[in-house]
Amino acid sequence: MNILIIGAGGREYSIGMALKKDKSVEKLYFAPGNGATDNLGENLSISDFDELADFCEANSVDLTIVGPEAPLVDGIVDTFESRGLNIFGPTAKAAQLEGSKIFMKNFLARHNIPTAKYIETDSIEDAYKFINSLEAPIVVKADGLCGGKGVIIAQTHDEAKKAAGDMLSGNSFGEAGTSIVVEEFLDGYELSVFAICDGEDFVVLPAAQDHKRLLNGDKGPNTGGMGAYAPTPLVNDEIYRKLDEKVIVPTLKGMKEEGNPFKGVLFMGVMVVDGEPIILEYNVRFGDPECEEIMPLLKTPASELFYNAATGKLKDINIEFHDKYAVGVVMASRDYPYSSSEPAEIIIDDIVHDDLEANSHISFAGVSRGEDGKLYATGGRVLVCVGMGDSIAQAQERAYMLVGQVHFAGKQCRTDIAYQAL
Ligand code: AMP
Ligand code: GLY
Repeated sequence: MNILIIGAGGREYSIGMALKKDKSVEKLYFAPGNGATDNLGENLSISDFDELADFCEANSVDLTIVGPEAPLVDGIVDTFESRGLNIFGPTAKAAQLEGSKIFMKNFLARHNIPTAKYIETDSIEDAYKFINSLEAPIVVKADGLCGGKGVIIAQTHDEAKKAAGDMLSGNSFGEAGTSIVVEEFLDGYELSVFAICDGEDFVVLPAAQDHKRLLNGDKGPNTGGMGAYAPTPLVNDEIYRKLDEKVIVPTLKGMKEEGNPFKGVLFMGVMVVDGEPIILEYNVRFGDPECEEIMPLLKTPASELFYNAATGKLKDINIEFHDKYAVGVVMASRDYPYSSSEPAEIIIDDIVHDDLEANSHISFAGVSRGEDGKLYATGGRVLVCVGMGDSIAQAQERAYMLVGQVHFAGKQCRTDIAYQAL
């Protein structure tokens, strides 16, 4: 099988690694890929959807897997499907579950899926009225894609009103904020749960926990994610059962009934409050860095999972996972998440311990290959050191041993990834 992966991050690298291990995969392509994905396959500098489809036809690509949300929201799946090409991901309309918070919240309400109490509005008066009816903290969200920055957790009513006013006037997020969601604050612990869906059936992957804040102990600003681990012991069978019954089944049924059958990754941002899973948000793609820990846990060949999901045949296969844990530590550049940093050469020491060699690896993200052939840190989140183990503690120890082998000027990482499970 020949497979094209759309995207450039550590998430796409980890999907590529899983496919690389899979004997039925012949050629792997990345568009655009990063400075390290060319070790796994071939990087393509094509971004136009029709040109990508032309490439797939000309090169017998059997399946395309889309990593990030932007091309999904922009309709890459619609283009490929109209040309009869297999692609794993939701159509533009189905991707509205992530592309529009208002679409998502209204969908959850229509189908009685548990979520925080909210209003959507473009009226400042209505926003103020609802804010007054809630207790602080209060959550204010811009409607569109804002690169994960469109959520304000206001500690006071005044702060919430100011955030709502700034968004509605277009000052904070431009067009993406001209309509907003105001919602109650949920106090619990957060999980990332992923269901691979084929429009009708689904497979739930081992639940992960992300660490969104920059600093140890969940302090500092929000980031795209500084590390994650899976499976998390914070989920039990009861929570998985409730997620199936109250969330995933009604979501797939509802999307189908509304004419937008959901195919791809349903990423559930879940807050568990008093044992009840409540949906904070949906995304329509894998989380990054969660994907980097989940992919190596997959025992079933990755191509089988993605191909069957893309072609509506998930029920024909049995998906298995290794009975292990994975911990991933993000190594970020100096000024992340505030601004970009000077490119820095990455030096990775030889790994001399067989144990570490066999049970850890790097998933490369914000890296470029210099003209000198060396690898440079050029993005915010540069790479993820992943450790595998029979326990979370063992996986964590290996992840941090690997971190010790990686050097670049200004590198930063958290030293407590997976602490909530230990
Ligand atoms: P979102 O982009 O909607 O995932 O929000 C980003 C982060 O804000 C989430 O991962 C949560 O940590 C937090 N958050 C969002 N909505 C709420 C809420 N209603 N209650 C508590 N925390 C929230
Ligand atoms: N790690 C969270 C996300 O990918 O949105």
